[in-house]
This record gives sequence, C-alpha cells and structure tokens, in this order.
Amino acid sequence: MELTYRPRRMRRTSSVRSMVREFSLHPEDFIYPLFVHEGNTLEEIGAMPGAKRWSLDLLVGEVQRAWNLGIRCVVLFPKVNEELKTEDGAESYNESGLIPRAITLLKREIPEMTVMTDVALDPYSCDGHDGIVSTDGVVLNDETIDQLCRQAVVQAQAGADLIGPSDMMDGRVGAIREALDEEGFEHVGIISYTAKYASAYYGPFREALDSAPRSTSGKPIPKDKSTYQMDPGNAREAITEAQLDEQEGADILMVKPGLAYLDIIHRLRHESELPIAAYNVSGEYAMVKAAAQNGWIDESSVVLETLLSFKRAGADLILTYHACDAAGWLRNI
Ligand code: PBG
Repeated sequence: MELTYRPRRMRRTSSVRSMVREFSLHPEDFIYPLFVHEGNTLEEIGAMPGAKRWSLDLLVGEVQRAWNLGIRCVVLFPKVNEELKTEDGAESYNESGLIPRAITLLKREIPEMTVMTDVALDPYSCDGHDGIVSTDGVVLNDETIDQLCRQAVVQAQAGADLIGPSDMMDGRVGAIREALDEEGFEHVGIISYTAKYASAYYGPFREALDSAPRSTSGKPIPKDKSTYQMDPGNAREAITEAQLDEQEGADILMVKPGLAYLDIIHRLRHESELPIAAYNVSGEYAMVKAAAQNGWIDESSVVLETLLSFKRAGADLILTYHACDAAGWLRNI
C-alpha cells in the first residue's frame, strides 16, 4: 500500500510515544483527601478500602508520607462526634474543634504542605445537610452563609491555605471572600466546588463521616441534596455557576464528581482561565477498589488511566483518594 499518512510511526517505540504525549500526570497534580476523627485509633472505612479515619497524631505521619511522595496539598474532612451535631452546625466554627486543631498541627509540623479545607455544615449538622434546615424542611441559603463565613474564618485563623466551599449555597464564594478579607486573610485562597452535582457517587464518603441526611429532630428533612446541588441533567448551568464563582473571587474552580462529568471539566476549561480541579469522588474510588480486589482489573493501570482522563479533559488538579498510591506508581516505588 502507498500510504502517505501512517500515524503508527509516532507509536512505534516507547521513547517516541513519550516525546509526542500530550498529557501526563505528576504527583503535584494531586490533592489528597483525608478523614480525621477524635481519639487515637486508625479506623478502616468499609466502602473505601485503603482509606482511613486518622487520629491527629497519626495524621502527621501520613501527611509527611504524602509530602515525600511529591504531593503538595491535602484536604481534611472531620468525623464529628454525634453529641456535637446541632441544627445550626455551630461546631463548624469552634476554634478548638477537630479541623482547626488538625490544621494547626499540620502547619506546625509540615509547614510547606498546602492545607485545604471543606466548608459546609453536613459533618456538623444533626440533619445531615450542608445548610440549616428550616422547621418546614427548606435548606436556608442566607442564614447558612453566615455560618459558612464563620467556619471559613476559623479555618483561616488556624492556618488553612485554601478554603473549599462545598455547600452550593448561592453567593457563598463572595461572602466568604469578604469575610476572609475583613479578618486580614486576603492571602488565603478559595477553591470553590463550582459545579457540584447531586450525585449518588458520594455514598461511601457519607458512610465515612456518618453525614447522610436523616431525620432526628422531628421536622421534615429533605432526603437528598437536590435543592442545592446541581441536577445531573444540566450542563449549561455549570457555566453560570463558574461565571458567578469567578466574579465572586474564586481562585480555583472545581467539578464534582469528576469521572461521570468529564464533559463539564472540558467546558469549564474553555470557559475560564482559572485553574480547574476535578474531584475523583468516593464512589468512583470504591468501584475501582472493588473490581481490583476481585482481580477483575489491574488497579495501578486503571487508576493512572482514569486520573489521566481528568488531565485530558482539562483539569489542572485532581482530588483523589488514590493520591499516594498513584504518586508511588508514577515514581516506580
Ligand atoms: C460535603 C462534601 C461531600 C463530599 C465532599 N464534601 C458530600 C456531600 O456533598 O454529600 C463528597 C466527596 C466524596 O464523595 O468523595 N459537603
């Protein structure tokens, strides 16, 4: 055959393939999510094999391990004791609460590690919602934002580098920016959960924190988060959310979940010049782990291929529970 174009020429050897490769993964692309709890034990999480609830003293060693693997950012999630949960989630801005203590400890022991936080009421709410639920079962927007601002300021006071509002209330990025600036934290960044969908992929995470919506107080509680998280049927709306977050002062935009929403990552990449993050969420992690444990897939290959898909779609950063494993595989250790 007389063929002018033979794309296989550029696939012939491993070195040529590496020369023409468009996207690659690096440990600095990863943000490592960690669960923390009170007490001094290390707890397994049933639906997230390999992920743990860390006590504060053991957390330092794990974050040091991540740093040594090249990871430059961790995000912390608290499992709050049931007796501290209230309707207004006031524990979220307790200066001596679990998260402020964890941040202070990490910034003292490993100061260069970037510490990101999650801002939302669900781990602190007896109703399991990201905002305050009214007596007639409505998740209140503006009242919730007051709480979120207090939470963000307390996290910044403890030393957080990046504040991550995950609640999806309208106007929260602007309000948090203003609250941080008023308290002298203009250097603290906001990584906004910009396009966060009402997704069944968060199931294992809610098990890890025991934070699913539930009715304990007698009032009607919405059974899911679809009045504030985005509808999975919507794509254009993600652009509206991105424009609002950008105007309100977000420094990084995030899409969540990542894998089932690669098209949204791609759209936001073209819509904004800000860095884009993808959250490879707990359900996505659990599915890969389950298949790997059954010997149905090769874990390291599938994980690295999946993480690369986020980069190809346009993400600069990937929040992933696979972070340490993936960083190790990339470095062949
Ligand atoms: C809390 C929050 C959730 C996740 C991150 N922050 C759960 C939720 O919105 O219900 C999910 C992360 C994951 O599934 O890995 N607002």
